[in-house]
Amino acid sequence: MIGQESYAEAFRQRYGQDPSTELESVAPFLRHRSVRRYADQPINRSLIEGLVAAAQSASTSSNLQLWSIVSVQDPDNRKRILPLAANQTQVATAPWFFVFLADTHRLAHAAESAGFDPANLDLAEFYTMAVVDAALAAERMVVTAEHHGIGACYIGAMRDNPAGVTEALNLPEGVFALFGLCLGYPLEGRVGKIKPKLAQSEVWFEETYPESIDLSEYDARAAAFNLDQKIQGPPAWSTKSGERLNTERIGARADQLEWLQSIGLIRR
Ligand SMILES: Cc1cc2nc3c(=O)[nH]c(=O)nc-3n(C[C@H](O)[C@H](O)[C@H](O)COP(=O)(O)O)c2cc1C
Repeated sequence: MIGQESYAEAFRQRYGQDPSTELESVAPFLRHRSVRRYADQPINRSLIEGLVAAAQSASTSSNLQLWSIVSVQDPDNRKRILPLAANQTQVATAPWFFVFLADTHRLAHAAESAGFDPANLDLAEFYTMAVVDAALAAERMVVTAEHHGIGACYIGAMRDNPAGVTEALNLPEGVFALFGLCLGYPLEGRVGKIKPKLAQSEVWFEETYPESIDLSEYDARAAAFNLDQKIQGPPAWSTKSGERLNTERIGARADQLEWLQSIGLIRR
């Protein structure tokens, strides 16, 4: 398990208020936090096989299974990946590192070998399916890992340099590295706090989308957390998140559409 908080305590840390009822069985899911520092303790390959099986047990649009993973365990290969992941320490030190891929390559092969023209695979629809499939599989892997006391950290920085990642991992046409995933048992004393999230009323709309949005309560709660945790940057969530929309911070990811077009994903 990651963390020891009860359901009520984890709920308070998420939302800044008490839950309406006790749901202790839900507590393990609320206790999630990204884990970026790992104990010097390997994860058994048999457990990793179980995590992959859990990932493959996720639902997938029409059973098309438009995702794959590459694990990068060889130290030289990990070193090659590191600058492609913004040199983040957790990528260098994670006992296991996976790259999750949106993958239409295998389906193109299957269709062709069954005598079909895979022309429609360049529709945005198939890319969207692949992203959803990969995300569902990854998060199922993460919750299963957390159930076994393993911490996880996704790595979106894998999208900074798609050409570099494609070369390093020998990715064929129709395959795009969506994100990395670090897995490792948490280093004692280095497990972060549960992060506050938006109030449920700001994400859960009943029947129709609301006319207005009020983030002031969450901005204040997130700011208090960020200041307390000495997290760099503007403390309020709206300011911190708004800043990310600045094109300079987006960097090469601004050219993602052109890249996806060039590898045969999303042409129409
Ligand atoms: C697709 C994705 C990419 C992410 N990329 C990174 C990353 O490159 N580096 C990092 O330290 N955390 C990364 N994160 C972790 C988020 O920052 C984290 O989930 C978020 O701040 C909420 O915090 P929590 O996971 O501790 O609840 C990523 C998360 C997701 C879902």
